[in-house]
Amino acid sequence: MVELGKNYGTPLFVFDEESLIQTFERFCKAFETAYPKIMVCYSIKTNNNLTICKLLREKGAFAEVSSELDLVVALKAGFPNDRIIFDGPFKPRDALKRALEERILLINVESFTELERLNRIAGEMGVKQGIGLRVNPFRKSRFSTYTSLKRLIDAAYCNIDCRYGFSLEDAYEAFRRSLEWKNLSIEGIMTHPYQTATKLLPPFMRQIHEKYGAEMKYLNIGGGFDPGTARFVTGTDMVLDFLRQKIGLKSKLTYEMNVANIESVAKSIVDEIKQSLGRLREPTIVVEPGRYISASGILLVSVDHVKKAGGYKWVIVDGGTNLLPYSSGFREIRKIVVANKASKQPEEVVNIVGPLLYSEDFINLRTSIPETSEADILSIFGCGSYTISRSNQFLHPRPAVVLIDPNGEVELIREKETFEDVMRNDRIF
Ligand SMILES: Cc1ncc(COP(=O)(O)O)c(C=O)c1O
Repeated sequence: MVELGKNYGTPLFVFDEESLIQTFERFCKAFETAYPKIMVCYSIKTNNNLTICKLLREKGAFAEVSSELDLVVALKAGFPNDRIIFDGPFKPRDALKRALEERILLINVESFTELERLNRIAGEMGVKQGIGLRVNPFRKSRFSTYTSLKRLIDAAYCNIDCRYGFSLEDAYEAFRRSLEWKNLSIEGIMTHPYQTATKLLPPFMRQIHEKYGAEMKYLNIGGGFDPGTARFVTGTDMVLDFLRQKIGLKSKLTYEMNVANIESVAKSIVDEIKQSLGRLREPTIVVEPGRYISASGILLVSVDHVKKAGGYKWVIVDGGTNLLPYSSGFREIRKIVVANKASKQPEEVVNIVGPLLYSEDFINLRTSIPETSEADILSIFGCGSYTISRSNQFLHPRPAVVLIDPNGEVELIREKETFEDVMRNDRIF
């Protein structure tokens, strides 16, 4: 890592081909051992680097795309058209048209508007498209104190309710009216994440079979498989943990977590689905892992300087939330190693912060590392997902990405952006 940081400069994303492939193959095997008909669709949005996508495609992945951009990436990475499925709540006419032109395997539809739009475009093009319906449980809170404002916020953040997909009532309605959409055939149902899907979809599948005689080819349980590389915490968790430490207790917010291994996750999903489907014909189970597959990338950053202020020690590094964006109020705590002092014990508690001009730009607060100084290189683990594809150019161009191949050779799989790249599309007027 030290050598890579020196040779390629920092910040730098680093992937290990063997880890990526082994993780993907382990995931597939876990499901394939438990069930005969499995379709593993890598969620392109989690890491849309063309080499990463191509490597997974070569190992037999299908692709789950969530936008026209994702679709173009998947095609460019060589995914065959009939190994691509299209999800997402925003599919404008052009995106649908392209998906139909490309004759992709399945489009997972989220609303009546989308059904009608897709049916119309397919009719205009004279094609028939296989679709899935995204079903949404829209759970109601059991607590009477739950106010409508809180409910709205929960829905907006997808805590309890979520705007994606058809409510159960609407999904039944869609099956009842399915003959109206002559250019579409409903071949699957889906929802995300797998925990919800596993509980919700099989009983729904039984009921649509009983009511309408509909038999689904695909049961898509989405993603959400935890690679165990980052602990998600809220601001409140951080404050409570700080108070714990103030009264002499040990911090609980470490990156170390116990997540169930994927073999037992796969087995319990399959057992539950099989039991719940009863005597229904077995569908293909579709899974859409993202983080589980690509999280293992490392972000290398350099210490620009160390500063003492306000009773804290601040370690200012050259990459922050521009490269590790966060969402829904959650922050991720990841393993951090000072690469050039990897054998040293942690000696001090510091705040590691990024190079941006806003207060939330921190990587980790109150973390223990060996004494750090200017030019040290930090390896931040578990940075491969929702980072490169969600990074931005606020104040700094995006960094390079390298891949270590199985022979230990380093391949540049994305060039570092230049200042010119950032300004490329601007026009002086
Ligand atoms: C529909 C759908 N499928 C797959 C994924 C990938 O999820 P994860 O990276 O948690 O596996 C997501 C992520 O939000 C999603 O919304």
